[in-house]
Amino acid sequence: MNAGESTDTVAVRVPGKINLELLVGPLREDGYHELSTIFQAVSVYDRVTVRPADEWSVHVIGPYADRVPTDGSNIALVAAKALGRRRPRHVPHDPVRIDIEKTIPVAGGMAGGSADAAATLLACRELWAMDHVDNETLAQIAAGIGSDVPFLLSGGTAIGSGRGEHITPVLGRGELHWVLWAGEGLALSTPNVYAECDRLRAESGAEPPVPQPSEELMTALRRMDPDDVGPALRNDLQDAAVSLEPLLAEVMRTGVELGARAALVSGSGPTVAFLTGSQAEAIDLSVGLAANGPAGDIVRAVGPVPGAQVVQHVRTP
Ligand code: C5P
Repeated sequence: MNAGESTDTVAVRVPGKINLELLVGPLREDGYHELSTIFQAVSVYDRVTVRPADEWSVHVIGPYADRVPTDGSNIALVAAKALGRRRPRHVPHDPVRIDIEKTIPVAGGMAGGSADAAATLLACRELWAMDHVDNETLAQIAAGIGSDVPFLLSGGTAIGSGRGEHITPVLGRGELHWVLWAGEGLALSTPNVYAECDRLRAESGAEPPVPQPSEELMTALRRMDPDDVGPALRNDLQDAAVSLEPLLAEVMRTGVELGARAALVSGSGPTVAFLTGSQAEAIDLSVGLAANGPAGDIVRAVGPVPGAQVVQHVRTP
């Protein structure tokens, strides 16, 4: 960084997600599965701050920090560099330092890494004043980084199609109250869970159809009534996640016995999402799970919430 250059900092807050429906279709030639998913952004947040620096780096703090890579494989860093390449040629390709305050579980099926990448794209666009990069272009860059990254830019409740990167908002009123259970030290790798899903399907000989959002869930989401949403929740990766981590079956059973309206594995897991009927029910369930459930972090969250948002831009003259 040269003397006189900007030392602006930009901070972005970004939520995690759960999948209310995750229908896994056939394996494509590019190694991805055709999906139809319904994402919901929930009120568990990471905060990502970027500032100009002499070299590219990423630093992580928070309860899960030691499980996040800080080398070139960190997708927040990959995202910053991808956007940096879109800067006009006469503008120097400045490195940034990325600071992540991590609250979203790592490798938990809540798209924590993708959330940080989305937040970094938004923060760097603001830091570098890249007004020529509109939201659609940013979403295209996001899709090149990971299937879930475009959704974390927009948030709310949305259908994801293709490999999950094509986003269509779902309009609905109301909010859902969730309790999330993230097992201590548990992690599942997304590619392994998809591979296990393929293995289980090959065993049973089941050929998956090309997936479509279910009418039942789409109708239920108009009013977000938990009595209608609960029975319509579905995750095709759940059996694969449970096969790799059998404890999840016990977690889900315990939550339902303690009064959850429904339980499902979030994305590729191992985070389990419990649907409750109100804030009061969510408090009761989280207290019950903490006392009686398998050891894990238990957080209450509401959804939907907006996607990544700039929350601070400190400008230096
Ligand atoms: O896109 P992303 O990097 O998040 O995907 C991680 C891995 O998850 C992929 O390499 C692939 O193994 C699996 N995946 C898949 N089908 C999808 C999305 C992800 O098989 N639609």
